Amino acid sequence: MSDSGIEINKIAGAVLLAGVIAMVSGLIAEGLYKGTIAEEFDKKEKRGYTIAGAENAGSGEAAPAEEKPVDIKPLMAKADATAGEAVSKKCTSCHTFDKGGKNGVGPNQWGLVGSSWAHKDDYTYSAAISAEKGKKTWDEQSLSDFLAHPGKYIPGTKMSFAGVPNPQDRANLIAYLKTLK
Ligand code: HEC
Repeated sequence: MSDSGIEINKIAGAVLLAGVIAMVSGLIAEGLYKGTIAEEFDKKEKRGYTIAGAENAGSGEAAPAEEKPVDIKPLMAKADATAGEAVSKKCTSCHTFDKGGKNGVGPNQWGLVGSSWAHKDDYTYSAAISAEKGKKTWDEQSLSDFLAHPGKYIPGTKMSFAGVPNPQDRANLIAYLKTLK
């Protein structure tokens, strides 16, 4: 009797041990697995960050950096209105710039700077611009941002013009617009 009792204890012990081993190895395996996943995740995070930084440093896909509006103030300081008048030739297919000039495809531009969005009462603007009449003013910065990417700055504008990509060209153009008063 006592012999079989020992046998049973041995068997029970073996089963228990097997269970413990299974559990422990399971935990270890899980631990390793999690560790590996975590490491991979870390690497990916770091890699993603590094690549994004490198892209921004170079040219190419630097979309977020490019989207940032350029601070036009420093460029206004060295802006040349005469050079800006030359840039305005890009606009004359749609806009007149003289006092009392007719609206064309787009509104006449006399007295624009410092006036409200939709500054001409005798011109039919898109809802996108006319909704801001009396609320927003055309100042140097908003003109620069608008003229950089018209459709991006005012989604829904009917000014279908690609924009003036060079910031100094925009500053010169704004300096010219400021003389029209
Ligand atoms: C293809 C025609 C076209 C060209 C080219 C064009 N525009 Fe326009 N522009 C328009 C139209 C149309 C509107 C009216 C937009 C609206 O109502 O959404 C407009 C509106 C504007 C406004 C808003 C005026 C206001 O009273 O709120 C400004 C400022 C402006 N244009 C400046 C320029 C300048 C500067 C250029 C040249 C760099 C230019 N545009 C080139 C068609 C044009």
